[in-house]
Amino acid sequence: MTTKGPIGVFDSGYGGLTVLKEIVNKLPEYDYIYLGDNARAPYGNRSFDTVYHYTLDCVKWFFKQGCSLVILACNTASAKALRTIQQNDLPIIAPDKRVLGVIRPTAEVIGNFSETKNVGVLATEGTVASESYPMEIAKFFPGLIVHQEACPMWVPLVENGEFDTHGADYFVKKNLHNIFEKGKSIDVILLGCTHYPLLKEKIKEYLPVAVKLISQGEIVAESLANYLQRHPEIESQCSKNGIQQFYTTDSAEDFDNRASMFYGQPVKSVHTGL
Ligand code: DGL
Repeated sequence: MTTKGPIGVFDSGYGGLTVLKEIVNKLPEYDYIYLGDNARAPYGNRSFDTVYHYTLDCVKWFFKQGCSLVILACNTASAKALRTIQQNDLPIIAPDKRVLGVIRPTAEVIGNFSETKNVGVLATEGTVASESYPMEIAKFFPGLIVHQEACPMWVPLVENGEFDTHGADYFVKKNLHNIFEKGKSIDVILLGCTHYPLLKEKIKEYLPVAVKLISQGEIVAESLANYLQRHPEIESQCSKNGIQQFYTTDSAEDFDNRASMFYGQPVKSVHTGL
């Protein structure tokens, strides 16, 4: 018999905290362990192979901590590593454990928000290049037109606390202009990177009022609640003491200084090597 363990929540850095926050709101009774691979972030502009190897290292780390379920709360890792881990690695290293991402749950609902059937996805270069959003969305909403725009400067702006500065104005305006050039009838903008909710207020300043702005935290939390209900064999392996632990592969002090911005409350993390 396996002992119960926390639910693992992973991101390349801080962004996944925006998702964890919503998950804890929705399902406060479970234990969570968060890992930010800050030492190797950002992932957004790295190759498929690199993102896959980094993500797999982290998934193995979660398994060593006793997790039976790991959420990749990072679009880049979900886009570039999740499928290979699910199909090739899990059957060999941990057939009873599960790794889930954030793209599929988002793709399952995003079409419901659009009247014009034109959706804009803002994401990292890696997520855009993977074509994961257009492919996944097509499975659930075949008639939906998906326009994508890579915003390579947004993660560095957010990670450096520059999300409310004139530098942010410049890049937010530029990328929004580009995506509306690609799809003039877009009426839904999806923040397809877990860092971007920090830029929400800035984005709203430049977004036509009729356009809905969607971030993933609540969608992923809802989907996880649903998953746990449908999978009692995994749910029964998740411990329930309402505890959240935070780990980073870089400096814990730096992590704590920035993390509260994403998590909405103070965070006390521990450094870990993988
Ligand atoms: N938070 C990651 C995502 O959702 C991107 C950050 C990075 O580039 O490392 O895609």
